[in-house]
Amino acid sequence: MSANIDWANLGFAYSKTPYRFVSNYKDKKWDDGCLSDNENIVINESACVLQYAQTCFEGLKAYTTVDGRIVCFRPDLNAQRMAQSCERLKMPVFPEDKFVDAVVATVKANKDFVPPYGTGASLYVRPYMFGSDPILGVKPANDFQFRIFTSPVGPYFKGGAKPITVRISDYDRAAPHGTGHVKAGLNYAMSLYAIVDAHEKGFDENIYLDSGTRTFIEETGGANILLVTKDGKLITPKSHTILPSITRRSLMYVAKEYLGLETEERQIRLDELTDMAECGLCGTAAVISPVGKINDHGKEICLPSGMNEMGPVIKKLYDTLRGIQLGTIKAPEGWIKEIC
Ligand code: PLP
Ligand code: COI
Repeated sequence: MSANIDWANLGFAYSKTPYRFVSNYKDKKWDDGCLSDNENIVINESACVLQYAQTCFEGLKAYTTVDGRIVCFRPDLNAQRMAQSCERLKMPVFPEDKFVDAVVATVKANKDFVPPYGTGASLYVRPYMFGSDPILGVKPANDFQFRIFTSPVGPYFKGGAKPITVRISDYDRAAPHGTGHVKAGLNYAMSLYAIVDAHEKGFDENIYLDSGTRTFIEETGGANILLVTKDGKLITPKSHTILPSITRRSLMYVAKEYLGLETEERQIRLDELTDMAECGLCGTAAVISPVGKINDHGKEICLPSGMNEMGPVIKKLYDTLRGIQLGTIKAPEGWIKEIC
């Protein structure tokens, strides 16, 4: 039976659910892991994660489909990306098949907290790993903990499908040969100053530029960028320093194979934004959030789709992806992992 929650009015915030998955890495091997009802973690004051931020994470969602099944979307790709993050951060990979099994077990244990079909809400699933033993000199931890918690959530941006306003950031997110392409906690730590500053100035998010030349647009703090050209082509920035968004990769496929749109992944210059018809931010948390206005140091770029509703192409993409996730549109082979 569903928990007694006002699903339609949930924001994107943590709320405790009964179970989380916990597995420990010690003496160079992972234990079997188990579900725990304890949401608190006790670690040494000199744990590597606390001193040197040795941590990475993932994000995916579980949904109730139109016919009442509980499913999640492409967890194998989260497992694969977490393995890449771990390799870059000198952390042990949690085996990809066990990652998917652990997601399934955690969602199943918290199934009463998966929002019912039609509420617009979902169960956010947050796998993460950190270095847990005491380290003083700069080096990787020896012991690690892998965990997955869940939290029922609503839209990431207030207003849901309402267009947002973003600004071009003067701060950089990722260095040319840094960690922008993996989901390291440190990428988010360094974005906190910029996001608070953006919010204080009335913007919903920051668009970061490539930090090498500050010529091309990259992504925002928590989502990739989609643009629709005036002749209806879907384009997205190509860069080695952005996170390879699972939502973006899925939408590019949907655009081509379901909607017959022309698609292209290429470098996109900041000065091209004035020529675009539509813009959206895409990610697990954001799904697709339409952008109505981009502020470039006081110069306003107003997308022709406006500030009231999603543009027509972004709307079609959104509806098709949601349909695939919620079971009203047939999904490509392997995209939907049935949980129960
Ligand atoms: N870019 C950043 C910086 C993110 O944090 C996220 C969220 O995971 C994304 C893009 C979107 O990735 P995905 O679609 O895999 O959730
Ligand atoms: C996600 O979309 O899952 C993210 O991780 C973005 C943000 C909440 C950090």
